[in-house]
Amino acid sequence: MRHSSLHRTTLFNFKCSTLYESFYNWFSFAKHIEPPYLYASIGLCSHKIFIFTLQSSLEYSKIASMKQFWQQLPKPFTILAPMDGVTDVVFRQVVSEIGKPHVLVTEFAMTDGFVSAGKERILERLLIEPAQKPVIAQIWGANPEHFFQMSKELPALGFAGIDINMGCPDRTVIKGGACSALIKNHRLAGEIIQAVKEGAGDLPVSVKTRIGFDRANYEEWVTFLLEQKIDALTVHLRTVKELSKVPAHWELMPSIKKIRDEVAPETMLMGNGDIMSMSEIREKFEACAIDGFMVGRGIFSNPWFFNEDIKLDKISIQEKIDLFQHHIDLFKARWGGTKNFANLKKFAKTYLNNFPESSKLREDLMLSKSIDELQYILRNFLLHSVK
Ligand SMILES: Cc1cc2nc3c(=O)[nH]c(=O)nc-3n(C[C@H](O)[C@H](O)[C@H](O)COP(=O)(O)O)c2cc1C
Repeated sequence: MRHSSLHRTTLFNFKCSTLYESFYNWFSFAKHIEPPYLYASIGLCSHKIFIFTLQSSLEYSKIASMKQFWQQLPKPFTILAPMDGVTDVVFRQVVSEIGKPHVLVTEFAMTDGFVSAGKERILERLLIEPAQKPVIAQIWGANPEHFFQMSKELPALGFAGIDINMGCPDRTVIKGGACSALIKNHRLAGEIIQAVKEGAGDLPVSVKTRIGFDRANYEEWVTFLLEQKIDALTVHLRTVKELSKVPAHWELMPSIKKIRDEVAPETMLMGNGDIMSMSEIREKFEACAIDGFMVGRGIFSNPWFFNEDIKLDKISIQEKIDLFQHHIDLFKARWGGTKNFANLKKFAKTYLNNFPESSKLREDLMLSKSIDELQYILRNFLLHSVK
């Protein structure tokens, strides 16, 4: 059942009544005593009030600052986009070590799975390391009760916020009424947001979506989302039908920002689609002054994307291979042989590019059958091709 905010209020009332009771008891007792014992007991009582006030204000400011997570980020802030099969705990760690954006997001995690026997598998997607914080958990589904149940457990896992996926164009998820299907089902979208807010307690709640389903009719949809008083909204500037096949419609961003400014100026607005460099972020910020920018596939051609001190053309082949080796070591330490090896091989494209023989090396790596073989090919290449 949904009662988390009620629970916090009850706890606070309980603390107040305990304080009141102690004070009442002291007063009844103090009537019968003489100085200097009276002064000593006044001291004790004020000490108790002081501690209580301090604890309450610390608790309050912690809650307030968690809730204000998005608002407290510098402008414009950067986010590594949630990417299924990519932004797992291992890749997030590599990015955090070499060039960290302001915020990272998990791969999307299924609410139905989380409340079922498959919970362990879903929890793997929600692993985070301290160096990666702040991390947002992205969740998806079509059952508000499951959203509520999952959101209740996310604060304890160390997340800075919860993001609801309302943009994934995958046919199977749409068939189940989830993700981008919600663009056509405002009633359910509203219920889901409400359920997550109730479950999330003090964590901020955000939504990631697209500009429409078949066409860019974002006015009504974006207005609806903003009316739900979410803490942040990311708009991937393509329709569901467009997948990622056409250039993102950045020309629509000023109009989306105008809606945000009118309907919910306190909700942070982020744009997403085709951002390929930090200088593009600066240009876009000049042009539309939104709060944050989310980068997806841009990281595939440059894992140092968010680190402006690193010039990609100055990175040696040895350094590129070392970084891939580091990813493989982290992968091995984290997953051993249990996780999909094919997924690991795909990262070759991210680390090993823009040098002679890089495409031949990647082809060889794609043929490997095990982590040992993958590492052997890399070592061999270093031995024979890199001076
Ligand atoms: C491999 C891959 C997996 C993705 N998985 C997710 C996901 O789990 N959740 C989500 O909201 N979007 C997901 N996306 C969409 C991205 O977050 C992003 O919106 C999209 O790639 C457009 O941004 P870009 O042009 O910067 O890549 C995925 C995209 C890719 C390429």
